[in-house]
Amino acid sequence: MAAYIKQLLLIAVVAVLYTKASTQPMSLPNCPSKCGSVTIPYPFGTTKDCSLDNTFLINCSQTSLLPFFQANNSVYNYNISVLNISLNGELRVAWPIASDCYNEKGKPENEINQEISLTYFHISPTRNKFIAVGCDIFGALDAFDSWGNHYATGCVAYCNKPNDTEANQSCSGIGCCEISIPQGHHQLLTKVVYIANTILDNNHSSVHDFNPCGYAFLVEKGYYSFKPTDLSLKKKEFPVVLNWALGNQTCQQSKKNHSSYACNANSTCHNVGKSDGGYICRCFNGYRGNPYLHHDGCQDINECMEPNDCVKKATCVNLLGSYQCLCPAGSEGDGKKKGTRCTKKLSTKQRKDIILIIALSVSLSLVALLVGSFYAYFALKKRKLIKLKEQFFQQNGGLLLQQQIGRHGGSTETAKVFTLGELNEATNNFDEGKILGQGGQGTVYKGVLQDKRIVAIKKSKINDPDQIEPFINEVVILSQINHRNVVKLFGCCLETEVPLLVYEFIPNGTVHKHLHDKYQSIKLTWKTRLRIAKETAGVLAYLHSAASTPIIHRDVKSTNILLDSNLTAKVSDFGASRIVPLDHSQINTLVQGTLGYLDPEYLLTSQLTEKSDVYSFGVVLAELLTGMKALSSDRLEVDRNLAAYFGSSMKAGRLLHILDKSIDMANIEQLEEVAQIAERCLRVKGEDRPTMKEVAMELEGILVIEEHCLGSDNLSSEETENLLKNVEDGISGSSINSSDPYSLNQMSMSTFGGR
Ligand SMILES: *[C@@H]1O[C@H](CO)[C@@H](O)[C@H](O)[C@H]1NC(C)=O
Ligand SMILES: *[C@@H]1O[C@H](CO)[C@@H](O)[C@H](O)[C@H]1NC(C)=O
Ligand SMILES: *[C@@H]1O[C@H](CO)[C@@H](O)[C@H](O)[C@H]1NC(C)=O
Ligand SMILES: *[C@@H]1O[C@H](CO)[C@@H](O)[C@H](O)[C@H]1NC(C)=O
Ligand SMILES: *[C@@H]1O[C@H](CO)[C@@H](O)[C@H](O)[C@H]1NC(C)=O
Ligand SMILES: *[C@@H]1O[C@H](CO)[C@@H](O)[C@H](O)[C@H]1NC(C)=O
Ligand SMILES: *[C@@H]1O[C@H](CO)[C@@H](O)[C@H](O)[C@H]1NC(C)=O
Ligand SMILES: *[C@@H]1O[C@H](CO)[C@@H](O)[C@H](O)[C@H]1NC(C)=O
Ligand SMILES: *[C@@H]1O[C@H](CO)[C@@H](O)[C@H](O)[C@H]1NC(C)=O
Ligand SMILES: *[C@@H]1O[C@H](CO)[C@@H](O)[C@H](O)[C@H]1NC(C)=O
Repeated sequence: MAAYIKQLLLIAVVAVLYTKASTQPMSLPNCPSKCGSVTIPYPFGTTKDCSLDNTFLINCSQTSLLPFFQANNSVYNYNISVLNISLNGELRVAWPIASDCYNEKGKPENEINQEISLTYFHISPTRNKFIAVGCDIFGALDAFDSWGNHYATGCVAYCNKPNDTEANQSCSGIGCCEISIPQGHHQLLTKVVYIANTILDNNHSSVHDFNPCGYAFLVEKGYYSFKPTDLSLKKKEFPVVLNWALGNQTCQQSKKNHSSYACNANSTCHNVGKSDGGYICRCFNGYRGNPYLHHDGCQDINECMEPNDCVKKATCVNLLGSYQCLCPAGSEGDGKKKGTRCTKKLSTKQRKDIILIIALSVSLSLVALLVGSFYAYFALKKRKLIKLKEQFFQQNGGLLLQQQIGRHGGSTETAKVFTLGELNEATNNFDEGKILGQGGQGTVYKGVLQDKRIVAIKKSKINDPDQIEPFINEVVILSQINHRNVVKLFGCCLETEVPLLVYEFIPNGTVHKHLHDKYQSIKLTWKTRLRIAKETAGVLAYLHSAASTPIIHRDVKSTNILLDSNLTAKVSDFGASRIVPLDHSQINTLVQGTLGYLDPEYLLTSQLTEKSDVYSFGVVLAELLTGMKALSSDRLEVDRNLAAYFGSSMKAGRLLHILDKSIDMANIEQLEEVAQIAERCLRVKGEDRPTMKEVAMELEGILVIEEHCLGSDNLSSEETENLLKNVEDGISGSSINSSDPYSLNQMSMSTFGGR
């Protein structure tokens, strides 16, 4: 019973609110809002006090059925009936037709031409067309815009027999012809002249029997379709759409004059035509009402009281201009039918368990892979090995990923499962124009999700099972990391042969691009470079020590450091990364990495430790300092490797010679300090290198001092840096040029460890 009453009450409330919405005023207080059946919204009105000005005065005298205003029809004033008025700047009116009638002998009998001038409104060239109907007719249209510019056009309709028109009833020349209205420079047609005339010498006598008159008229597009019976047309008027606007100034000009600006506080102003066309007002999105009324004008729509997009479970909450669907406690999502709906939330513990299981299974499968690899290597059955690997990845990798993602059930932030449909929509069916980059590992597309998030979607090369492992790896690693300087993984899609990964979109590309691509780069100032170094070091230190289980990135390089719109560093690409079991400080793996960044000790011993990342970071630091590529064939053979070149230059005290010429040298001590850090990171023996934590802290310290000391004259130094052109010509000619910032590990070198 109580529930029933509650429901009744709800219905009552809805009804009251609904009535309130539908009775929102359209006209000024104490002014009639209707004339007959036609609504007259302000600025229109039926008296001087009820309308904004004379322009919008509509005559509603009792004698006529419809409200009207007057226009000049060549000699006399013609009453133009108003059919309805729309607040989006349109006015539908009844417009007279022109006709030309003849007797059997071909003598003109009753000629009605139309010449109509409007004072305030304009004939919409886009919403109307011009039509002539008859079997011997030339319909001519002369039009003039507000500036007196003249446009003229016309069309001919012809037929021989009464049933000529029956075969094809479209208006394409047989008994009927149609044309578009000429579009004036400013689309403000205020005067039209149109006539219906016989064709040249023909005097209509031959078709008089079945077509006594010819007709020509303007009509709203979509309203009229030709019928053979129209050869003797009974109608005298057709609806035509006129445009109306306020004044003849633009929004900007009108806003300056507060007394004449008509849009209310909850609305926006839109210019009509290019200039001088006046303006109209529109309620904000999510608002409804009359934007010209300054009291009770546009009001917020209570979407919760109307059909909306919330799922049943969710609670609808109205906001000004929009609404939200709140999911019940214990679930998450946006609660919308077309959005993420509400899904059950897993506790942190559940999540951790899942991740642990995944991590374990992946580690196990990797160990299995390793054993398999060794076996195959010693048995010298390389081909067999490759086959085995493929099978392995396909069977375990794909299934595994499916299992874990399935278990997440789209419920965690890091691993939403997208449908292929969603991603097709986001990328316009993986349109070529959406490609951000293409590399050895596949293709990265830019996409826009339904919730307007911009994403980068990584699609691996189809039919390359080798790609599955890095994919799983990346999902596993990224689901453990939550760091502001790490690219976020939104989720993946399993409906394709190879999973697709969906990341947050990082707009400014890679550090590599800005350092080495002369044509598409932002000149990075020293301070920015220092901050990028600090942020990258921070991420690596976090991976090595702060994350729940230590992670070795294994592919630190300038192509894997992306920059967002504020040039904040975002480390990407965890396809090669490894989780270090807690009781091990080193693991045996296949040597993998990028030439030029690869730790020589790791290369020799296949012992992967955190210090390998330190080395690679040292190379990135050297790149930031020198603006040179990690590997460049432009340097002498011994110096091809930047790490070696940097080390030998430092030893020889030639740091100043190799620094990037576009760096401001004002603070040379600081540059030297950073160069020292790079030198230490690049030491051959891992144990001689500092830890990532030490590096991060030192860089942080330098940056803090930089910010304190340079403070105000920072700007001028940045300007100077921008002006200095990068003359480091010796760095062009790329050997490891990468166009795919999200690639997993281009140019990666795989050998088998433990030789
Ligand atoms: C309406 O038209 C009639 C006839 O033209 C005229 O007498 C009357 O003043 C008009 N009313 C208004 C409000 O303009
Ligand atoms: C119609 O034209 C005449 C003569 O040009 C003019 O006096 C009159 O004001 C016009 N009427 C309208 C409604 O434009
Ligand atoms: C216009 O309407 C008014 C008022 O109904 C009427 O007096 C007048 O004769 C009409 N004029 C024309 C040309 O129809
Ligand atoms: C205008 O008239 C058309 C046709 O009668 C109708 O469908 C439409 O709702 C009307 N618009 C307004 C704003 O009255
Ligand atoms: C119209 O043409 C017919 C035949 O061509 C001719 O007999 C008739 O006199 C013409 N009528 C006029 C008014 O010119
Ligand atoms: C038109 O009428 C003629 C005779 O009246 C007839 O022979 C012909 O088939 C008709 N054509 C069509 C398309 O109806
Ligand atoms: C009528 O003619 C138009 C244009 O030639 C053509 O596209 C259409 O298919 C025809 N319709 C019929 C029913 O023959
Ligand atoms: C704009 O409108 C005002 C008043 O209605 C008029 O005096 C002025 O000539 C118009 N300007 C243009 C460019 O049409
Ligand atoms: C501002 O608007 C008022 C009222 O419409 C008008 O009298 C005045 O001339 C306008 N001033 C300017 C600078 O347009
Ligand atoms: C603007 O919208 C708010 C919320 O609906 C309403 O309270 C206020 O009256 C509106 N203002 C105007 C000028 O309509």
